[in-house]
Amino acid sequence: MIRQMSCNEVKALHYELLLKDILASAEKLPPFPDVVWKVMSLLRKTAPVQEIEQVIQYDPVITARVLMLSQSAFYGRKTRVSSLREAIFVLGNQKLMQVVLTSCASRFFQSRPSGSDGDERELWYHSVATAVTGETLARQLKHKKVLTIYTACLLHDIGKTVLNQYAKVYLHLRVTNPKLDGKGLISAERKTLGIDHQELGELIARRWQFPKEVVEAIGHHHNPLAVKHDADLAMLAYIADRIVNDMDKDHAETNPLDPEEDQVFAHWKLDGEDVEKLQNKIIDAMEGIQHFLNH
Ligand SMILES: [Fe+2]
Ligand SMILES: [Fe+2]
Repeated sequence: MIRQMSCNEVKALHYELLLKDILASAEKLPPFPDVVWKVMSLLRKTAPVQEIEQVIQYDPVITARVLMLSQSAFYGRKTRVSSLREAIFVLGNQKLMQVVLTSCASRFFQSRPSGSDGDERELWYHSVATAVTGETLARQLKHKKVLTIYTACLLHDIGKTVLNQYAKVYLHLRVTNPKLDGKGLISAERKTLGIDHQELGELIARRWQFPKEVVEAIGHHHNPLAVKHDADLAMLAYIADRIVNDMDKDHAETNPLDPEEDQVFAHWKLDGEDVEKLQNKIIDAMEGIQHFLNH
């Protein structure tokens, strides 16, 4: 005899299938464009500029984005750059890597069907602002791993790009819980979807073969103190994320940032004045790359 399933059993099965589906979607994401690893290896070998140019120009979309970004004050210079070769010269190794990384990452934030479009654009803007903040912060703190911090900050919310595909369930969660942020959002995601955007992001970054410390920072950007060995990257991603969210009026109202009361900010000796100065720098930098972000 076939037993009828209880309401709880149906719910459990629904969540099990939903989680399976979410994990399958993460698996289906295309690989991170390997132009990043190719350029990085050429730069390490101090290869001639022609070789770097050849690798980048193979991908016209990335080439166009590299050219556009190299004309922004934050990455390059404000004057016109007329060729890819000139852009490579103007940028220098570290900025070139940031520009290539950002150009490649934009694909994953701007490829969704309409409906969640506005959300995707907002998430992309937030991700770049967090990367810009992470870099500015890393330089201010004289941290050696500027590029690694930039990378972790840029991709910290990559898990949300997959969760956004479950627009109905995910948006319902966000709309019915507008005050959710940080740890609250993480536990609500786990309850509703069976997985949170940190864990999913960690999974994606590992699949894309990013360095272990980047993977770990993505997986702990809302709870950096849970990282056992060398929590620097996760802490800086957390700080950058909080600073950027604090600039967004809705976020700031629902989850105000108080650096003096925050253990992670205290660890890096960052007070309210430091945060304000950083926010002013970020506003300037973001204005300079607005044009790129809208394409
Ligand atoms: Fe997040
Ligand atoms: Fe974030």
